[in-house]
Amino acid sequence: MFNMTPVPIEVVDFYDDGQDTRHYHFRLHGLENGVEKETLSAWQKAQSGQFFMLSLPGVGEAPFTFTELPNEQGKFGALVRQMGSVTHALFECAVGDIIGARGPFGKGWPMAAMADQRILIIGGGCGIAPLASVINELIETQNYRQLEVIYATRNSATLMLNPERARWRHFIPLFNVVEDTAGLSDPDYYQGTVLGLLPTVLHSFGTQPDLVLMAGPEAMMEAAAEYLVAYGIQPDAINLSIERRMHCAVGLCGHCYLQDRYVCTDGPTFTWADIRQYQAVG
Ligand SMILES: Cc1cc2nc3c(=O)[nH]c(=O)nc-3n(C[C@H](O)[C@H](O)[C@H](O)COP(=O)(O)OP(=O)(O)OC[C@H]3O[C@@H](n4cnc5c(N)ncnc54)[C@H](O)[C@@H]3O)c2cc1C
Ligand code: FES
Repeated sequence: MFNMTPVPIEVVDFYDDGQDTRHYHFRLHGLENGVEKETLSAWQKAQSGQFFMLSLPGVGEAPFTFTELPNEQGKFGALVRQMGSVTHALFECAVGDIIGARGPFGKGWPMAAMADQRILIIGGGCGIAPLASVINELIETQNYRQLEVIYATRNSATLMLNPERARWRHFIPLFNVVEDTAGLSDPDYYQGTVLGLLPTVLHSFGTQPDLVLMAGPEAMMEAAAEYLVAYGIQPDAINLSIERRMHCAVGLCGHCYLQDRYVCTDGPTFTWADIRQYQAVG
């Protein structure tokens, strides 16, 4: 039996992080009473790449990935782009307001497969959100052989996770690529697209990456995946996070149907081999 009832969460803080986007911290509410130990324990099992349903009472629900996984106080992070009714209502909330959440849901990134591997991570626009916690986790555990990150966006106004990217730069090669560099004085920003930058990044690996993680616009992911396959990387070594409209998030309603799979329970992370088979992208 599925528990579809949201648990209360508190808006802890937020800051503007790119055009129409905010980075939020939430915390499970009521834990100080000690009655919600099971809830805390379930949320603490969240994995990088999984998602939760944010519930705004009287408005609706929408899925979001974790930029920071729930800690021992039940605090977690999410990058939210204002799109429609749920996100608009969230942007109206103040620090301290109580809203709701259900989760964690879905299949996270293949963390175990990353140990001692050469990993390339590619995030496009808001697609950096489901990759943030995996990058933090890898930097913290150092459980990889090589890690390089490409972050691509359209222009300086749409750059996101600015504080996190500034921190990552101290630990790993981070290639920021912006289509329109007007207003950007930082020489560390490349002008162009993911596809234009891939030869430089792959050359810097010295050899092929063992594993690729990607999230962002589907056209970008498809073009990059095809380039990487032509470069010799196996389709099942390329992992993508994809988005579909969701309602139940537990495999009941069929809103996120993808051939014979559900994005909410079989994903949102899939290999490129799977996606090609389901013809989900392109
Ligand atoms: C697994 C998953 C993880 C996600 N993680 C994040 C995240 O970390 N940060 C973030 O900002 N967003 C994320 N999203 C997207 C977010 O859930 C949607 O933007 C959501 O619809 C916003 O709700 P809303 O009520 O504000 O907008 P809505 O009223 O639902 O939508 C506003 C407009 O956006 C369009 N739209 C919404 N969702 C989609 C979609 N999936 N595909 C195509 N068009 C769409 C609608 O058709 C409508 O025109 C994620 C989605 C999924 C499935
Ligand atoms: S959202 Fe209902 S089946 Fe996936």
